[in-house]
Amino acid sequence: MQRATCSSSPGDVRRSVTTALHFYQNRQLDLYASKQAHRLSLRQLVFFGRHMNEERLIKSANYVRTELPVRIAHRIRDLQALPYVIVTQPDVAKVYELYWSAFEKFRRFPPITNLSDNSKFCDFLETLLDEHAPVIPSLSLGLSLCSPLLPPESLDSFMNRMLISRISRRVLAEHHLALSMSLGRDSLNSEDPHVGIISTALDVKRSIVKCAYLLRSRPHGIENDNGKVIPNRGWPEVVVEGQLDTKFAYIREHLEYILFELLKNAMRATGLKHWHDTTLPPIYVTVVAGKDDVGIRLSDQGGGLSSNSIQSPSDLFSFSHTRNATRIDKRRIRALRRASSKGVKATVAEQVVEEDGHNARDPERGAGIAPHQRMGLGLPMSNIFATYFGGSLQLVSLDGWGTDAYLQLPKLGTNLEGIEV
Ligand code: COI
Repeated sequence: MQRATCSSSPGDVRRSVTTALHFYQNRQLDLYASKQAHRLSLRQLVFFGRHMNEERLIKSANYVRTELPVRIAHRIRDLQALPYVIVTQPDVAKVYELYWSAFEKFRRFPPITNLSDNSKFCDFLETLLDEHAPVIPSLSLGLSLCSPLLPPESLDSFMNRMLISRISRRVLAEHHLALSMSLGRDSLNSEDPHVGIISTALDVKRSIVKCAYLLRSRPHGIENDNGKVIPNRGWPEVVVEGQLDTKFAYIREHLEYILFELLKNAMRATGLKHWHDTTLPPIYVTVVAGKDDVGIRLSDQGGGLSSNSIQSPSDLFSFSHTRNATRIDKRRIRALRRASSKGVKATVAEQVVEEDGHNARDPERGAGIAPHQRMGLGLPMSNIFATYFGGSLQLVSLDGWGTDAYLQLPKLGTNLEGIEV
């Protein structure tokens, strides 16, 4: 550490004060990063939130207040372990600063002892959730630009840890906000029973129909890989089959984000392959409720995934340009840059109206991500949402014909969050 001496110039003194501050902050960071995150399962979140009262709500607030800085500290450490040239890349640096600032704010937030404190804490959480809306495009942009500087495995495991941890932090924050809003209300006996942000009887078919409706309501026109807009005549129909009464306890925003992205890709591929045909082959979505999991298969006839830029479908989940050359495609970089600088309010207030008149958030905003078209975020993020509570997502391409996506989500709620600490 530098020391200010009597003979120091004002610049030296400023530098040494900054260095001392960083030294102090890093000691605080060490303290938090030496703690293990306290991972939860969906079932624990439901059990705790089921019979909410003031005492439990205060307990929940203090859990979020003390747990989030631990989770953020681990990720700041991860960022610090990157080569210096990457952390100082402006988009990565922006995320680093957002995390430091959130860490400091959480660390200093006083204990919550009553409902009035909790209401201030909720305002604080909402502001942070909005401030962090551009994190995913910024990280993705920064790491895409730095992709040549990291081996693909390191880059992907870093992104995986960052993104799954971000999902976990937003789940805890949004769950607490939802519990606070529903204090004194019986949300388990409503038409859409839920505890906090967890729907306790999430109707899978209804979510599929909603995503299909939102996507089919978009104006026509599909941008192909060369940036040319193809005038499609319409969007393919979505046929839902299988066990249509399947309901399970899950976070609606996570299921709908994945369905929305998979259907969006399937519609685009089908529209591009068949744009000159008078009728489009439908997309089939099959739902099966197994003993432990809910399985959903989406089959399209959009020609499959073969391309010069990837070797295997799982490369589409990768952030590394060596596995997926489109990561450094100029159009993608430009789109990421726009999303990263714009940000978007991603929390509670954003509403769109569904076909059946129910209000619902747009699935991309609902999942806390700025809306994204052609940025290469949908598939890796869907994979990460699927694995957060131990599910999986696989893509199988029948090149020249179409793609099948297999989504499996655990239905018992007993798996702990898949975050690394
Ligand atoms: C994030 O969105 O990156 C967060 O960490 C959210 C949290 C600060 C509430």
